[in-house]
Amino acid sequence: MKTILWATLTANGNYAQSGHDNPPKKEALGDFAAHAKATGNFIVGRRTFENMRNASPAPERDAAGSPFGDLDIVVLSKRLREMPGVHVAASPREALDYLSRKGHETALLSGGADLHNAFLEEDLVDEIVFNIAPVLEGKGLNLLLDPNIYSYKGVRLLETKPLGGGVVQLRYAVSQD
Ligand SMILES: NC(=O)c1ccc[n+]([C@@H]2O[C@H](COP(=O)([O-])OP(=O)(O)OC[C@H]3O[C@@H](n4cnc5c(N)ncnc54)[C@H](OP(=O)(O)O)[C@@H]3O)[C@@H](O)[C@H]2O)c1
Repeated sequence: MKTILWATLTANGNYAQSGHDNPPKKEALGDFAAHAKATGNFIVGRRTFENMRNASPAPERDAAGSPFGDLDIVVLSKRLREMPGVHVAASPREALDYLSRKGHETALLSGGADLHNAFLEEDLVDEIVFNIAPVLEGKGLNLLLDPNIYSYKGVRLLETKPLGGGVVQLRYAVSQD
């Protein structure tokens, strides 16, 4: 199973946090939708999923309360066993095993920071898509590797692409060595 970590970073290199004072750029949201359509799934942290669901207007949700159509959505949670309309997994491995069993070959890791760091710490990331948003952030979250194993790990730049609205996309391959 190939995994793609998809994240927005700020121009000063933080893991971007969105909210009413810093809404996500429509170009980044469109890119996320395109990646999710291509993979047919996404894995998301419980906190980010609850924010996503609450941010969607009710008319756009289906009967199970999901605004995401027929995508296979896996919510990572240690606390919850089930949520309507999605599969709940208790660990990164369990999430990937579930999508494999459903026939997916690529999994999209959509955030937030805890979820991305859980996959990075377990060396379960094959590709990274960073969308750099034109904003500087005064607070900050970070993406981190397991410091007991890595001080640095090189990645291979595959592509750079402007998405419009000042957003630039960087795509990297991560080797599993
Ligand atoms: N920059 C971006 O691309 C991007 C994307 C998405 C979100 N965000 C930002 O990220 C922030 C939210 O991220 P967050 O770090 O607070 O939360 P999160 O990663 O969305 O969700 C955290 C929750 O996921 C579950 N979880 C995490 N690691 C786990 C593991 N190893 N095993 C099982 N469950 C696990 C836990 O759920 P339980 O508590 O239920 O056990 C944990 O509380 C917001 O500021 C949002 O704006 C940014």
